[in-house]
Amino acid sequence: MSTFQAPIGTHDVLAPQSALWEGLVATFAQYAYRYGFTLAVTPMFEEIGVFNRGIGEHSDVMTKEMYVFTDRGERTYALRPEGTASVVRAFVQHQPVTPYKAWYVTPAFRYERPQAGRYRQHHQLGVEALGSDDPAMDVEVIALAWRFYEALGLTRVRLLINSMGHAECRARYVEVLRGHLDEHREQLCDEHRASWSTNPLRVLDCKRDACVAVTNDGPSLPDFLCADCAAHFAAVRAGLASLGISSTLQPRLVRGFDYYTRTTFEFVADALGSAQNAIGGGGRYDGLTEQLGGKPTSGIGFGSGIERLLLAREAEGLTSNLINRSIDVFIVDTTGGAEATALADQLRRAGFAVERAYDARSMKSQMKAADRSGARVALLVGPQELEAGQITMRDLRSDDFETAQRRVERAGLVATLREHLSK
Ligand code: HAM
Repeated sequence: MSTFQAPIGTHDVLAPQSALWEGLVATFAQYAYRYGFTLAVTPMFEEIGVFNRGIGEHSDVMTKEMYVFTDRGERTYALRPEGTASVVRAFVQHQPVTPYKAWYVTPAFRYERPQAGRYRQHHQLGVEALGSDDPAMDVEVIALAWRFYEALGLTRVRLLINSMGHAECRARYVEVLRGHLDEHREQLCDEHRASWSTNPLRVLDCKRDACVAVTNDGPSLPDFLCADCAAHFAAVRAGLASLGISSTLQPRLVRGFDYYTRTTFEFVADALGSAQNAIGGGGRYDGLTEQLGGKPTSGIGFGSGIERLLLAREAEGLTSNLINRSIDVFIVDTTGGAEATALADQLRRAGFAVERAYDARSMKSQMKAADRSGARVALLVGPQELEAGQITMRDLRSDDFETAQRRVERAGLVATLREHLSK
């Protein structure tokens, strides 16, 4: 019979790789907490309208990449392609006190052409802050991402930033851009020669040389900001600079979803040097709550891809786990296994990470498993130890055979182990 594989564009994460994931998520949770964000868990699927209205029906994600299904009650749902729309839908539904600051970790589903750093199920760490249009909120959200990347050890990260203005600034810009694209439409890439007029902003997102050349010569978004939006953007950049976080103005940065207003940003890992070098991105979405039926409320957030963060760490040669997942003690029981069960329970309750052998294996086989486990200490229980109320403690990292092994009293084992492991 043929066996099954994980679906195309998805992957299984098993040890030791999964310890890196754990470390990443734990570090992010710690940073989110320090910045005052609380965890939000929302459903992995939503009514399709949440995304349609939220991220825009003409976005690439909406037109080409959604996983849509009808359930047995004939309702049309979509697997979430990103985290923002769901959090904002939950905000509108529950109306928490503002500013409402939430963090999340979630799988996201997009029917993309799979390649290194681009998957059909990827995972995002993100935050959303709703209810304040203070530039200080933009600064804190961006600083959280930046400090988190620093904590991961990443040093080759650049922050690209832009402002799309509010709806009116953008409408004025889009009109001029439309004229420019119309004039040069024959020079656009095949895809956008046909589709540019549906949403001209998408052409700015296009990475193909033809579109880049046309839009580079075109109008620049920051020139179209009204006085308020320009002041907001200047305050965000000054705030970042005051924290020592340098940002590069990228006037083409409009990002892939229609909900963005004002500040937009992206973090690029230079060590990746590929088309998939964006390790995070986000921005303001001051009209999104209304799109989803709520009261006007400004919002800002970012999402960062776990897989890409790990690729970026690897590319920078960073190998530390961020979290300790090593085994303290391995129990070798040659008296049948009941002692291992009792001892493991006692030591785990005392806070040690304990592994043991199963299936009444031979002493040799159990010692091999102890070595493989990476445990610092092996505790050996044989018939003699059992009778004497003692345990043989062997330090598996010590080369000195004389001192590596000694008999200890079972009664004082927890204290003895603590002392030994603290050395
Ligand atoms: P996004 O730029 O589409 O933004 O995705 C955020 C991050 O997720 C990207 O920078 C990238 O690291 C990762 N990512 C996206 N697609 C893939 C993929 N197919 N495979 C692997 N990694 C991927 C958002 O999703 C917005 N919700 C961010 C946001 C939050 N804006 C405001 N608040």
